[in-house]
This record gives sequence, structure tokens and C-alpha cells, in this order.
Amino acid sequence: MSSDSTPYDDEIAALHAEIASDPLDDAEAFRVRYLGRKSGAVGALMGRMGEAPPETRRALGQKLNALKAAAEARLAEATEQAASAPVAAVDADGRPLDLTLPGRVPAPDAPGGLHVLTSTLADILGIFRAFGFSVERGPEIEDDWHNFTALHFPPDHPARDMQDTFFLEPPPPDGRGILLRTHTSPVQVRVMEREKPPIRVVAPGRVYRNEAISYKSFCLFHQVEGLVVDEGVSFADLKAMLTAFAEAFFGREVSMRFRPSFFPFTEVSAEVDVWWDTAAGAAGVRTGADGRWMEILGSGMVDPAVLENVGIDAERYTGYAFGMGVERLAMLRHGIADIRLLYENDLRFLTQF
Ligand code: DAH
Repeated sequence: MSSDSTPYDDEIAALHAEIASDPLDDAEAFRVRYLGRKSGAVGALMGRMGEAPPETRRALGQKLNALKAAAEARLAEATEQAASAPVAAVDADGRPLDLTLPGRVPAPDAPGGLHVLTSTLADILGIFRAFGFSVERGPEIEDDWHNFTALHFPPDHPARDMQDTFFLEPPPPDGRGILLRTHTSPVQVRVMEREKPPIRVVAPGRVYRNEAISYKSFCLFHQVEGLVVDEGVSFADLKAMLTAFAEAFFGREVSMRFRPSFFPFTEVSAEVDVWWDTAAGAAGVRTGADGRWMEILGSGMVDPAVLENVGIDAERYTGYAFGMGVERLAMLRHGIADIRLLYENDLRFLTQF
């Protein structure tokens, strides 16, 4: 045996050939196979150096170091190849996808945002929370009892026609079917059936009406119902609360009026209007200039008959209630002249808020 030949020359030569011809399609497998701490072929040979005749060890060491360097160089190549190779992926239809392509960056001038109705509703609820009200919700699919009868709408009374109703089934002969709620007042009934006074709640939500669509009325809109029941609650409390609400909501001076009205479930009843200033195109102060009153809510003292319907002692307790239109409030606050804009999802409109 010449001084620089070693007992492992054949194995070393075979490993060099293998390493040189490896396709390098899996860098990690390559690393484990040749350079792995426990299982690697190069390390295994190094571990057997002690078995070689002492005079060959020096040459053997050099050859094994060269083998290790060759393996490391190929591993570096494999790693680089893996990093630059496109990732094989397919879309839902099996077409190849290049996952290394840059993503679509949203246009910086068109960030997402809250719909103006969502932010208006959040503001309204924020104001009432600050006034000590808690928030309740009820179902949009209602029954006749909660939407009408418990609220003292007599069976054949024309008051039922005040709220053109979408019935979910053809209404039975007695007219008492399952329906899309026409107002949020049924939540009053649900709360009073469950809780006894003192009660101080607001109930936001969608309501539906089968009526002619115009600049100020839509078949779907939002209301916030309010209900306060306790000993000694008066109409003066109602007026004070609604006035304080309007001041907080508009944050500027607007003209407001209470107008006598009728609802089956309140006695006395009032509607509240806010002045729409034509020149400003939004709520404002009534001067001599052009404008009109816009109704924003119905309200009144809860009819004792309603309290009795839900088992609350009407001798002891009184209450006030109101139901405000969220769309109308948004229109007056932001100067939106047509309610339908709120439902068209036109970005040119929505991004103004
Ligand atoms: N529910 C009525 C409507 O949709 C509004 C209303 C009036 C609500 C008087 C009330 C109330 O709570 O007391 O037209």
C-alpha cells in the first residue's frame, strides 16, 4: 500500500461520484444523507478513521476533509436552487400557480371603512350608553303578538295599515301571521315580558315595510327603539332625553319640534321633526330661508294597556318610548338628500364619509 492510499479509497471515490451526480432536487435530503450528524455518509467514514492503519490516517484525514468540503459545496448549490425555484402550486381548477408573484396591493387611496349607516348607528348607541341605557336586540322575523297585538294594535284596526307589512306566509284569515318586523317596538314587548322595572334600554335593528320607495322611504331601514319604565316617569323626561340626544348627535344647533301624533301603543304620542335647510343641504336652524321639516322619530308615553299586556302594574309604573330612523338621522347629519344612496354601494358615494 503506497503512503497516500488508504483502506477507504474506493468508498471515498464512490461518494465523490454520488455527490457530484446528485440532482440536488431536495437540499434537506442531501444534507441528511451526506452531512447529517448521525446518519451522514461522510461523518460515518470519519468515525471509522481509528480503524485505519496509523500510517494512512494523515492521508485519510485529508481525503475525508476534501470529501466533506465537496459535499458542503454541493449542499450550498442545492439550497440556492431551492430558493430560486418557483413553488409548484395549482389553483382550484388545477392550473399552475406561481406563488412567488407579488400580491395585489390595495390602492392606497381606497382603504376599507365603515358604511355611513354603521358609523351613525354606533354613534347613536354610544350616546345612549352614556345616558345609562343598555342595548337589546330582537329577531327580524316576528310574530303578530310582538309586532302588533301586544302593542295594542286592535285586530281590524286601520292602525295595522300604517305599517305595510311583508308577511312571510299568506296571512291567515285573522290576519295574524309571521312577518318581517315593521318596527323595533316588538323588542319593547320582549324586554318587558322578561324584565321588570326599572327598565332603560335601546334596541337597534333592521325593519321592513312594503311601501312606496322615495327619497325618504325605503322598503328596508334601521330604527333604534328606546324604552324607559319606572315609577314617576313623565313626558317631560321624554322631551328632555330626546332634546339631549339631538344636541349630542348633531353637535351643532338644529331646529327641532315635537308634533302631536298617534300610535296605538303610546298615549300621549308625539313625532319629532328636525329642520332640513335647503341651502345647507343638511340639518340646520330654521330661519326665514328655504327648508322643510323631516320626521326622525315617533315617541310617547307607553300606553297602560301595553304595560298590562306584559304583566307590568300600570298603576305603579309609567314609561316613555321612542323609535328613531337611523337613515333619516344620517341624512340630516351628513346632508344626504336621497335615502336610496345608502343602499346602492356606490364607492363614489361611500368614500365621502
Ligand atoms: N314604532 C313606530 C314606527 O315605526 C315608532 C315609535 C313610535 C316607536 C312611538 C315608539 C313609540 O317606541 O313610542 O313608526
